[in-house]
Amino acid sequence: MGRLLSWTIHAVTILGTGFIIWAIMGWAPLERHWLPDNVNKYGPIIDHLFNVVLGITAVIFVITGVVLGVSIGKSAANPTKPASYVHGSHVLELVWSIIPAGILLFITFYQMDAWAQHKMRYPTETVDGHQVAKKPHARLVARQFDWDVWYPGPDGELGTHDDLLNTDELYVPVDQEIVVQIESQDVLHSFFVPHMRLKQDVVPGMRQFVWFHPIKQGKYEIACTELCGWGHYKMRAHLHVVTPEKYAEFIDNLAAQKLTVPESE
Ligand code: CUA
Repeated sequence: MGRLLSWTIHAVTILGTGFIIWAIMGWAPLERHWLPDNVNKYGPIIDHLFNVVLGITAVIFVITGVVLGVSIGKSAANPTKPASYVHGSHVLELVWSIIPAGILLFITFYQMDAWAQHKMRYPTETVDGHQVAKKPHARLVARQFDWDVWYPGPDGELGTHDDLLNTDELYVPVDQEIVVQIESQDVLHSFFVPHMRLKQDVVPGMRQFVWFHPIKQGKYEIACTELCGWGHYKMRAHLHVVTPEKYAEFIDNLAAQKLTVPESE
């Protein structure tokens, strides 16, 4: 029994590590089971941080797995020998308090740049020779269970009567910095764009901003990643990264649709 348990623990360590490496390498049949392509200029710093943390946990996972498996195997090989019971080891307690504390402290400082780039340094733009906060490209309003996207109308300002509404399809031009204002109309949601390495809780009563810099055209998934009610699973939208020309065309179409509604009634 002890021997079986020992081998099971070894199998978990070996298979767990093996499958992860397999997926990272993208070998069949686990192609595309690791991170999706990054299409955000600010994405690599997040991937790097992810890999560093994964590396640390991988080392600890393998060490604990091997120690556990070997210990169980040893006692299984000698079943008549009683196990030794240890009650409180000052040195051990110190070691396993100080090492995790040290690792956490290291991560705290190591991630500061990533946090600053993604959450603190609000993008600016130059207007009349002055650096000013960049205007949001669109306003995203999460609600059970859709994402309403508001674009500035002909006046170029968000939050005015001529804003254009579209649901579940966020269009942005490629190769420029995009700021999106996000809000919730009801409960807690979370805005997640895996290809952009972007995730932000959408908190009711708060106006928040996220920013990214798409470098590749395409259609990417936007998912709600906060359990927000029975329809959480279907709260899915798309981010379309298109050329500036296509984007202008999209906005023109949206404006045309808006104008034609009263006439068709
Ligand atoms: Cu909104 Cu889950």
